[in-house]
Amino acid sequence: MSEARRAVVILAAGQGTRMKSALPKVLHPLAGMPLIGHVLDTAMSLRPEVIAAVVRHERDQVAEAILEHYESAIIVDQDEIAGTGRAVELALAALPEGFEGSVIVLSGDVPLLDAETTANLVSTHESANHALTLLSASVANPTGLGRILRDSSGEFIGIVEEKDATEAERAITEINGGVYVFDSVLLTRALGLIDSDNAQGEKYLTDAAAHIQKLGGKIGALEVLDAWMIAGINDRAQLADAAGELNARIVRQWQLAGVTIQDPATTWIDKNVSLAQDVTVFPGCQLLGATSIESGAVIGPDTTLVDCEIGAGASVRRSEATLAVVGQGATVGPFSYLRPGTVLGANGKIGAFVETKNAQIGDDSKIPHLSYVGDAQIGEDSNVGAGTIFANYDGVQKHETRVGSHVKIGSKNVLVAPVTIEDGVYTAAGTVVRKDVPSGALAMNVSPQRNVEGWVEQNRPNTQAAEAAKKHGEQ
Ligand code: UD1
Ligand code: CA
Repeated sequence: MSEARRAVVILAAGQGTRMKSALPKVLHPLAGMPLIGHVLDTAMSLRPEVIAAVVRHERDQVAEAILEHYESAIIVDQDEIAGTGRAVELALAALPEGFEGSVIVLSGDVPLLDAETTANLVSTHESANHALTLLSASVANPTGLGRILRDSSGEFIGIVEEKDATEAERAITEINGGVYVFDSVLLTRALGLIDSDNAQGEKYLTDAAAHIQKLGGKIGALEVLDAWMIAGINDRAQLADAAGELNARIVRQWQLAGVTIQDPATTWIDKNVSLAQDVTVFPGCQLLGATSIESGAVIGPDTTLVDCEIGAGASVRRSEATLAVVGQGATVGPFSYLRPGTVLGANGKIGAFVETKNAQIGDDSKIPHLSYVGDAQIGEDSNVGAGTIFANYDGVQKHETRVGSHVKIGSKNVLVAPVTIEDGVYTAAGTVVRKDVPSGALAMNVSPQRNVEGWVEQNRPNTQAAEAAKKHGEQ
């Protein structure tokens, strides 16, 4: 038997009223990507000939997010006829001329369905020669979902929506997951037979099941034991529940892959993060976006990393970083703020209350305390003294500061950009560096210190300071 042709249809035209949001439901984020991104990943895992996504509500925004995730997706516009059946009907019309095979229908609001379960559904469908195979689950609270109807011998006979169900049908706890594989030929015929004669006045895709059966097609309902696979997101409470569940699964997967995660309850890890063996994560961390962390690195407690690369054996404590690279063996924190474009070399240091932005800091170089370093290039093994500010902004434009290798910037310097400090320079404490400093020079601009003897006793008599000075003189 030759491989069946496959097309995936993703339903994403609904309004998502229950989210009560200006953002379309399928664009709400979950583990670092929109809901629809998870569904597209599952669709792509089947390697279908085409993926068609049906849109209508906030059409442009949803279509853009879909194409950003998968540029070959076919965007299908739903018309004013409502319902999941109508959505699939229009998607079928957009498939390549003469397409015949398996049509996999996924919902844009069912994000936890994984590749394995979906592949299983498709192979069950194709090997059993079904006209329709769907995922069902037995759930404690079936409220709001379509119920699976079976006859006395347990044979599938149809799906009834809650709003159209009788009291007895509502008592059924086996629900329709909204995930289906159809034979395209029988699906097309069945969709031609459905109407909108129901409580919601919509063309239900679920009504296709009974028609397919009347047309002689075999139907199978594959019951999933893990009901999260088909959990639909309709409101923000369900979104938070799904996010918590997915996070727990991601955390566990990394633990089993050799990552120490001390407190799963306070650790959030996005789906596209990658962690090497023997990484340690202390409580209160968010590892987000495309962050990757090499072996032996220690993260946290209380650290947020967004799209960062952390090198082997590095440590990042109580800090926040976005689009930053931290070299092997380097240390960051506590209380550091690394903004986009920060690149810290191997064994370097960014210490307490230091903010960096667009700053390349060479191997072994250190910015240990209370500094701002923006638009800077620093060579190797240089040290930036406590309280130093790289003044990169003249009020109109940003400028760059270059600091060479083996440089010692004194405490509380202001480096006024654009300015270049060459290799091997020292600068005195409190220097405001406005002119370039040549290699090997000492830069200073503080005026000599003057001590006015006896000033305190004369000008602040009868103070504790004056008493102390007097006592000292008597000794
Ligand atoms: C649907 C099923 C129900 C099932 C449940 C599982 C129908 C009639 N009912 O109900 O049996 O238990 O999913 O989660 O199919 N959509 C469109 N166009 C439309 C209407 C909806 O593209 O005209 C999309 C939505 O954006 C959503 C998906 O289809 O992604 C499901 O629609 P929704 O309104 O959430 O259906 P449910 O009431 O959840
Ligand atoms: Ca739904």
